[in-house]
Formats: sequence, structure tokens, C-alpha cells
Amino acid sequence: MTNLSFPNEFIWGTASSSYQIEGAWNEDGKGPSIWDTFTHIPGRITNNETGDVAIDHYHRWKEDIQLMADLGLKAYRFSTSWPRIFPEGRGKVNLKGVDFYDRLIDELLRKKIEPFLCLYHWDLPQTMQDQGGWPVREIAYYFGDYARLMSEKYSDRVKNWITHNEPFVTAGAGYFLGEHAPGIKEPLAAIKAIHHLLLSHGLATQAIQSASRQPVNVGVVLNLSPIHPATNGKKDIEAARRFDIIQNRAFLDPLLLGTSPIAEMKLLNRLVGSVIKPGDLELINRLDFLGVNYYSRTVIKHDPKFPIFATSQVHPIGNEYSGMWEIYPEGLNEILVNIWENYSHRMKSPQTLPMMMVTENGIPVPDGFDFDGKIRDVRRIRYLEQHIFQVYKAIQKGVPVKGYFVWSLMDNFEWAQGYEKRFGLVYVDFKTQKRTIKESGFWFADVVKDNGLITHFE
Ligand code: GCO
Repeated sequence: MTNLSFPNEFIWGTASSSYQIEGAWNEDGKGPSIWDTFTHIPGRITNNETGDVAIDHYHRWKEDIQLMADLGLKAYRFSTSWPRIFPEGRGKVNLKGVDFYDRLIDELLRKKIEPFLCLYHWDLPQTMQDQGGWPVREIAYYFGDYARLMSEKYSDRVKNWITHNEPFVTAGAGYFLGEHAPGIKEPLAAIKAIHHLLLSHGLATQAIQSASRQPVNVGVVLNLSPIHPATNGKKDIEAARRFDIIQNRAFLDPLLLGTSPIAEMKLLNRLVGSVIKPGDLELINRLDFLGVNYYSRTVIKHDPKFPIFATSQVHPIGNEYSGMWEIYPEGLNEILVNIWENYSHRMKSPQTLPMMMVTENGIPVPDGFDFDGKIRDVRRIRYLEQHIFQVYKAIQKGVPVKGYFVWSLMDNFEWAQGYEKRFGLVYVDFKTQKRTIKESGFWFADVVKDNGLITHFE
């Protein structure tokens, strides 16, 4: 048995996102987002489900914050919906949208829950997509304007800001694979999108800082994953290196070092190198904290059929799977330690790595009520315990991990998979919207209260 006692001030929280929970898709002056458009096209989402109502958080926010308070959570990561603030992406501000997040932030603070406000969790205003979306450079500047307004409105109370959630997925699933909104399948558009998302991080960071009324931290959230080759063959090793460039280094290098790995891939450089304009990388290279979303490792083999990268993912036998991913807790430690070891000594300014946080970690489980009305989601508890242990080990090695957020507080809309996958510490009956705390919720409340746990892992 090991006593995992975390540093004082360690931040324990949960994460969520606007489109996945809010609903009220066309209420109080909100403009449509690309997810509204996308989910309304039959055949895109499992069972043709949408986030029109989602878990009705737009109306139940107070009850939901009370749940967090009941669990003793210290922090809440949420995202604001850009088209709720700017129905057309820019121009006229929707004050009712501004008021909604005002109330939310005030209530969180009243309950002593630290807000972590993320500006973009994929619900791009449809008007911005009509102008071409993230593959178009101007969108980055409009995002900067949105960030400035948000800072003017909320930075007197919000100290922790996140520009983007998982830009790799925004670009990859949205513009390369077409599985997410806006459903486009153009590899080069996706690569351009990556650069403009990063550029928009730099512009937004500048805007938030310059408009803020107190010292604030501005970070970004990346979904990082250790990339393992499927075999020891040279081709697979090379393929894994290419995939590491596109999933991890394409983001970490510009954000932490102000360099781009694109030049290392000749074809890519020839096709899209020119989207990076002079001065862009300097602008992108600013970060107060790095959020790491971790679910699984990625195992890659050489696959000439796959455009540009010639890679594809394989799913080895051996470990358990969650129904979405291989369960591989060691990968969380590997990624945290790797970033620490590979980047900290190469950084120009600041000299040290910004603080890190695990901003998402969780597992879908087909939860249900037991004979006595309890939801015994032991699989989730085991998963979280195994991963928290890996965070603990990273901290022991000196990696500056300052917080851990479970995805998610409540079951919600899981993108292309609709409501089929339940990630919450709290069960939601999607018909009645009734919330019920699962056993994992009570378990996590104890972790927060004790600032750690006793585990049987060695
Ligand atoms: C993501 C998003 C979340 C997901 C979660 C589970 O990582 O895809 O940040 O919105 O719901 O990761 O898939």
C-alpha cells in the first residue's frame, strides 16, 4: 500500500465544455455554432443525437454548482460558447450570454470553487466557418477580439484562462477526418488550421493579458499521448516519429520553444510551410501553464494508404480497453516526464517549464443503477486511481504538476458518439435530467478532502 499525499495547494477539479452540457442552443440570442449545424445533419452523430438540450446546464447551472460544492471540489474547468457571446462571431455582443457566465462565475466563487475558463472547446460560430473557419488566418484575429472582450468582462474574478482545448482534435477531427464539425476532409486545410489555432492562442493570450484587471495565468490544453511504434521495424519507428510530430510536437515546440517541427517533414514543409509568417512563432511562444488531457497512448504503424503522414493507429491486444481506448495509465507518467525532460532545458524565456496540470482524464463506463439505487462504477474508480498514481509518481520526479481534473463532472454529449458514452462522476438521466452522484463521485470527494489517497499500487 502506498500513501499518495499530494503537495499542499494541489488543485482537484472536474472539467466540462459548453456544447456538451449547456443545451439552449438557440435561446437568449445565441447564434448557431458549427456543432449546431453539424448535429442537425442526419447521419453524423450516433442515433442522430444533438446538443440542442444536452444536460440543460444553461438552466440548471445553480444545481450543478451545488453538486460540485457537495463533492468539495476545488476547481471547475468550463468553456464559454463564442456564439453565445458574439452570435455572429464578431460585432454585436449578446449581453444575455455575457450575463450567463457572469452568474456562473459569481456562484462558483461564492462556493469557493476556482473557475478555469476555456475560450474555445470546439463550438465555432457558424458565421466564422462560413468565412472558411480555422484554415483562414483572419479567424485567429477575430478570436483575439473575442478573448479581449472576455477578459474585460471577467478577469476581475477569473485568474486562470485557457485559450484552446485540444487544437489537434479541432484540426484533425474537424478538417482532416471530417468526423467532427465542420465535417471537412481536406488534409492541407487541417494543417493550416493547426497553425491558425496556435496563432490565435498567441493573439488571445496577448489580448487577455493586456485587458486584464489583475495578474492572470493564460494556458492552453493539449491532448498529448506517448507515441509507440507497433513493431521494432524501421518503418514503424519512422511512422511513430512522424505521428509524434503531428500530435505532440506540432504544438509543444511552438508553444514552449517558439520553433516549428514542420521543416522536419519535407513534404509538409513544401505544402504548407508558407502559412507561418514572420513573427508568428514569437507570438505563439507564450504560456503560463500547460494543460494535458490524457486518455491513452497511441500505437502507430507505417501505412502508405494514409494521406501525407503514411501512418495508422493499431490497437494491440494485452491491456483492457474502455470501449473507446486502451487503458494505459503509465502513459500519463511517460508524457509528463517526457515534456519535463525534453523541454525544460531548451526553453528561452521563461527559463523554466510553465506549471503543468492534468486538465482531463476519465473513462466511459456503461453505468446503471444497482438494486439499491446506487451506481457502483468501480471501473471508473480503478481507472482514476491508477492515473492519479502516475501523476503522483511524476511529481515525485520533480515534474511541476499542480492540478488534476476529472473528465467529467456529469455524463454529457460525447460528440460524434452522442449520449452513448458516460464519463461523469454524476449520472444524468437524459430524459428527466435528474442528477445522481455515482460511487466514483463520493470516492473522488474523499480524494479531494484527503488531498490524496491510499492505493494498493506499488
Ligand atoms: C476531448 C474533449 C472532451 C471529451 C473527452 C472524452 O478530449 O475530446 O476535451 O470534450 O468529451 O475527452 O472523449
